[in-house]
Amino acid sequence: MKACQISPVAADGALHRVDLPRPVPGQGEVLVRVRAASLNYRDLLVAQNVYGATLERVIPLSDGAGEVAEVGPGVTGLKAGDRVAGAFYPDWVDGPITAGARVRSLGANMEGMLAEYVVLPAHAAIPIPDYLTWEEAATLPCAALTAWHALSVVANVRPGDTVLLQGTGGVSMFALQFARIMGARVIQTSGDAAKRARVTEMGADAVIDYKAEPDWDRPVMDLTGGRGADVVIEVGGPGTLERSFRAVRVGGTIVSIGFVGGGAEVNPRAVIGKSIRLQGLTVGSCAMFRDMNRALALHELRPVIDRVFPFEEAAAAYAHLRAGAHFGKIVIAI
Ligand SMILES: NC(=O)c1ccc[n+]([C@@H]2O[C@H](COP(=O)([O-])OP(=O)(O)OC[C@H]3O[C@@H](n4cnc5c(N)ncnc54)[C@H](OP(=O)(O)O)[C@@H]3O)[C@@H](O)[C@H]2O)c1
Repeated sequence: MKACQISPVAADGALHRVDLPRPVPGQGEVLVRVRAASLNYRDLLVAQNVYGATLERVIPLSDGAGEVAEVGPGVTGLKAGDRVAGAFYPDWVDGPITAGARVRSLGANMEGMLAEYVVLPAHAAIPIPDYLTWEEAATLPCAALTAWHALSVVANVRPGDTVLLQGTGGVSMFALQFARIMGARVIQTSGDAAKRARVTEMGADAVIDYKAEPDWDRPVMDLTGGRGADVVIEVGGPGTLERSFRAVRVGGTIVSIGFVGGGAEVNPRAVIGKSIRLQGLTVGSCAMFRDMNRALALHELRPVIDRVFPFEEAAAAYAHLRAGAHFGKIVIAI
């Protein structure tokens, strides 16, 4: 089968085109013919070996979708032809996160989705909604599930809540769509005028240019009548966290997800003074993925895809992500 590999240990970011034997599903496993894969900021970290991956060579990318090609012994509930996506953490089946559940993740320390075939534990091959294309379904496992976990499981967003989203990357665009079906009001930031216009078209109630307004917590306060946002989905990290402390309401929730903004040390005093709930999270469980897919199917939400690259141009897809001009998800068709 055709595949790409990276070398996390070499940390050179190079993608190597390889031909590998088609893997064989063992007890309780399924073989999936991958149709599309998608990229996350995390995949840049894996390629640069700042993700803690220790393999000499691995097939990268956590996210992908395809059809079951073969089931191994003992598999029930899935059959050849079923449309599935892989779970980011195959060992996190249900319940709260545990140390063991987050040890293995696709495309870092086990084979990922940038290949024609992948073997997955059957419970981690999650059926995808019928209405989604392969490319759309390939965007779900990391960014979408992270946004779903943050809004519906951690923050328990209620109709009428104000949700503050940062930027227009994969996580934030899914969060916009989920927040809207949950009945929340969305305030979103973006450093790009064209992206701000698109976010408004998609239903954001207010959009702030964080480059022109580095004190963007002030307009958030103005827009909420001095109260602050109920929930902040924090993807900026040290570069934005102190602003988020100011922008969230007293007793509000900040879900700490990413660190695209760079930046320095953070002073936690506001967390204490404003009684902020600051909760980190990492992607989600297989059970959360199934729950999210039910909501997606009901509302027929369409993931925002920036661009689809052919398999042969996988390196260009990585470069496109690195450049940061994308709006939504970057996909590779396989
Ligand atoms: N905890 C988890 O499980 C989890 C899961 C997924 C992702 N993450 C993390 O979450 C972060 C976002 O991931 P992603 O895949 O959505 O990334 P992405 O698609 O690469 O999006 C990055 C976006 O962030 C915005 N941005 C950059 N600097 C910013 C700043 N200083 N303030 C506000 N926004 C800024 C930009 O939006 P504009 O161009 O509109 O300004 C950019 O397009 C990453 O750090 C990633 O590692 C964590």
